[in-house]
Amino acid sequence: MVRVDHAGEYGAKRIYQGQIAVLGRGPKGDILRHMQAQEQHHLDTFSNLIADRRVRPTALLPFWHVAGFVLGAATAALGERAAMACTVAVEEAIDEHYQAQAAELGPEESGLRETIETFRAEELEHRDIGLAHEAELAPGYRALCAVIKAGCKVAIAVSERI
Ligand SMILES: [Fe+2]
Ligand SMILES: [Fe+2]
Repeated sequence: MVRVDHAGEYGAKRIYQGQIAVLGRGPKGDILRHMQAQEQHHLDTFSNLIADRRVRPTALLPFWHVAGFVLGAATAALGERAAMACTVAVEEAIDEHYQAQAAELGPEESGLRETIETFRAEELEHRDIGLAHEAELAPGYRALCAVIKAGCKVAIAVSERI
């Protein structure tokens, strides 16, 4: 769980960095930087857990480094609404993932469960920010979201194993 969550938060940070690279000077710059700062906090927390629990990070970090940034920059290049649609799709996938993890954790892992629940609430805030910023008005919103969400699920499955 720590490995895949670390990978996911790493990818999330890179997605927002990619979006900021394209839209950072525009009207959405501040809200993107706000979300990126929260992802940095999530990532730092899981980086500490990786060290404390001697978890091997996913071998795919260099890939997520590039793939996250490209996903962020590419959706941002499609427009502000497409960038927000990307956020909705990613954060929905992470919400489901964290919800499943939290349900699996027993009382002996209540600390980790609380961390996951706290972060999950912030991911849902990010999704709501995306919706508030007209994600659903992005051209091809449904298809874009479906593709990105499916990609996130593949990324999660792969990062749990490799
Ligand atoms: Fe996050
Ligand atoms: Fe997030």
